[in-house]
Amino acid sequence: MPYRFEGKVAIVTGGARGQGEQIVRALAREGCSVVIGDVLDDLGKNLADELGESVVHAHLDVTAPSDWADAVALATSAFGGLDILVNNAAVYRRQLLEDETLAELDKVLDVNLHGPFLGIQAVVPAMRARQGGSIVNVSSLAGTTSYAAHGSYSMSKWALRGLTRTAAIELVSSGIRVNAVLPGNLRTTMSPTTAGGETPTGLKRQADPSETANVAVFLASDDASFVNGTDVVADGGSLLGW
Ligand SMILES: NC(=O)c1ccc[n+]([C@@H]2O[C@H](COP(=O)([O-])OP(=O)(O)OC[C@H]3O[C@@H](n4cnc5c(N)ncnc54)[C@H](O)[C@@H]3O)[C@@H](O)[C@H]2O)c1
Repeated sequence: MPYRFEGKVAIVTGGARGQGEQIVRALAREGCSVVIGDVLDDLGKNLADELGESVVHAHLDVTAPSDWADAVALATSAFGGLDILVNNAAVYRRQLLEDETLAELDKVLDVNLHGPFLGIQAVVPAMRARQGGSIVNVSSLAGTTSYAAHGSYSMSKWALRGLTRTAAIELVSSGIRVNAVLPGNLRTTMSPTTAGGETPTGLKRQADPSETANVAVFLASDDASFVNGTDVVADGGSLLGW
């Protein structure tokens, strides 16, 4: 069976660890060339070295337009173009609304919302040159419900779903699909449960990040050719509240 991503090229932000690392591994396993875009350069380079010549690391701070331009240029010079963007990088923040500051809110929005916005702007010309592409934005359950002390994070993840839909509408004529994945609680550095916080409901466990990475990879693939402008929740059923 041919690899699903043979001849395809992807940028995965926040690809050096956690769920992003699993997305990079899954794409590379299925024949994709990948640019890891992260601020964790040592981790990103180590992963790229491990995975071989079809994976490279780029220092990409998603808040910096010039880093985006460099990452797209690298994808094109190293692999000949760009087909897939996974906007996975984010920062997590816990703070009650009454104690939150505008400066801290701005920091969260900068990475989690402005980052994907800049990413979409940066990749579209390269995707148009290939007659299409797929963009996957990683939102969160906090982007469809919320929790105490999650104001800044939740705002960023809800807004990312709005960006997803607008982009899907505007880019459909360019053959570019745009979707969001909403993971539940993952066993990564970011998760409050990993750090000893509340117990997840639904399947009564945290997800291994590879489980939700598979959903992002599906949305990135041609298997999702008729999935556009929507959200896929991957939460083990915890939204049902049991
Ligand atoms: N962990 C969870 O329980 C959970 C739940 C729902 C959604 N998510 C989402 O999944 C995605 C991956 O999170 P994770 O759990 O793997 O967390 P993580 O902290 O392990 O990974 C986040 C990655 O983003 C990178 N990053 C942060 N700021 C960046 C910036 N300015 N530019 C580039 N890269 C930057 C980090 O260096 C890191 O590699 C995030 O979008 C997160 O919001 C996580």
